[in-house]
Amino acid sequence: MKPIKVGLLGIGTVGSGTFNVLKRNQEEITRRAGRGIEITMVADLNVDRARELTNGECEVVNDANLVVNNPEIDIVIELIGGYGIAKDLVMKAIANGKHVVTANKALLATHGNEIFKAAQDKGVMVAFEAAVAGGIPIIKALREGLTANRIQWIAGIINGTTNFILSEMRDKGLDFDVVLKEAQRLGYAEADPTFDIEGVDAAHKATIMSAIAFGIPVQFDKAHVEGITKLQATDIRYAEQLGYRIKLLGIARRTPNGIELRVHPTLIPAKRLIANVEGAMNAVLVQGDAVGATLYYGKGAGSEPTASAVIADLVDITRLATADPEHRVPHLAFQPDAMVDTPILPM
Ligand code: HSE
Repeated sequence: MKPIKVGLLGIGTVGSGTFNVLKRNQEEITRRAGRGIEITMVADLNVDRARELTNGECEVVNDANLVVNNPEIDIVIELIGGYGIAKDLVMKAIANGKHVVTANKALLATHGNEIFKAAQDKGVMVAFEAAVAGGIPIIKALREGLTANRIQWIAGIINGTTNFILSEMRDKGLDFDVVLKEAQRLGYAEADPTFDIEGVDAAHKATIMSAIAFGIPVQFDKAHVEGITKLQATDIRYAEQLGYRIKLLGIARRTPNGIELRVHPTLIPAKRLIANVEGAMNAVLVQGDAVGATLYYGKGAGSEPTASAVIADLVDITRLATADPEHRVPHLAFQPDAMVDTPILPM
C-alpha cells in the first residue's frame, strides 16, 4: 500500500521533532500504522530554515494554503498555534477532506465545537493528543483506556511553565520574575507567557480533557481561571511549613448540577504523589467509578515528547483512514450534557 501523505504547517520545535522521530523510528511506526507515513510537504514562513531542518527531503513552501489545498495530502498537521490563521487553515483542510492533527489547545478550547462539527459533517478526523500534557497520552487514556468508566473528576498539573516556576521558587527561594525568564529561556513558556502564568493555558487543556472525559462540548467560557501571579515566596514558604505544596491545578469534576471546570493554585498535602511533581513535568489524576484513581506523569512540553503525541495521532488516523469508513471508530461523541458556570470556592 502507498504511504499516507502528510503536510506539516509550521516547522518549529514540535514540527522538527515530529520530522526527526518519524524518520528515526520509521520502521516501527510503519509496522504499527499498517502503512508508511510520509511528510511530503512543509509550510513555514522561514523557508530556508525549513529546508535545512528537512534536509531537502520534502517540498517546502511559505504559503500554508498550498498544503491544505493540495489534493495529494491526506493529513494536515497544524503546528502554527493561535486562533486566527490556524483556524482558517484547519477549516480549509477539513473542507478539503483532509484529516487534521493539531497541538493547538487555544484553538480547540475556543473553537473546538465548530471544528469538530465541520469534521464530523465531512467525515474526517481531528486528533489532538499533543494539545494536552505534551507527551502524556492522556486523551487516549480518557477516550480509550478509561472508556468503561463514568469519570468523576480529573485534576492535573498541565502547565509546565507554572510548575517550573513554583518548584524553583520553593527550592531556590527565587523571585517569580527571575524564574519566569528562565522558563522562557528553556522554551517551556508560550510566546505570550500571560497564558501560562494567568492559568489560561491550563484552562484550555482542562477544557479539552473535560470534553473527552464527560462527553460535553468544549466550554472554555464557563471555567473559573486563576493563575499564579498573586503568589509570593512567603505563600510557598508558609504552605511548606504547614506540610503542603502549592500547585496550579486544572480540575474538572462532576457535581449534582453539572460539570465544573476550574484552574487555580491549590494546597496539596506534601506526601501526595502529585505534590511531588517538580519542574516542568506534568501529571494528571483521573478518578473513574470502575478503575478508581489513575495517575499519568511525563513531559508536558518539548520537541520530541510533543512529537510523540503528534505521531501517535498520525498512526491512529492512518489505521482508521485505511479501514473501511463504515467501521471507523468516531473520535468524538458528545452528549448534550450540562456544564455549570464554575463558582469560586468559598474560603
Ligand atoms: N506553555 C506550555 C506549558 C507548553 O508550559 O505547559 C506546553 O503546552
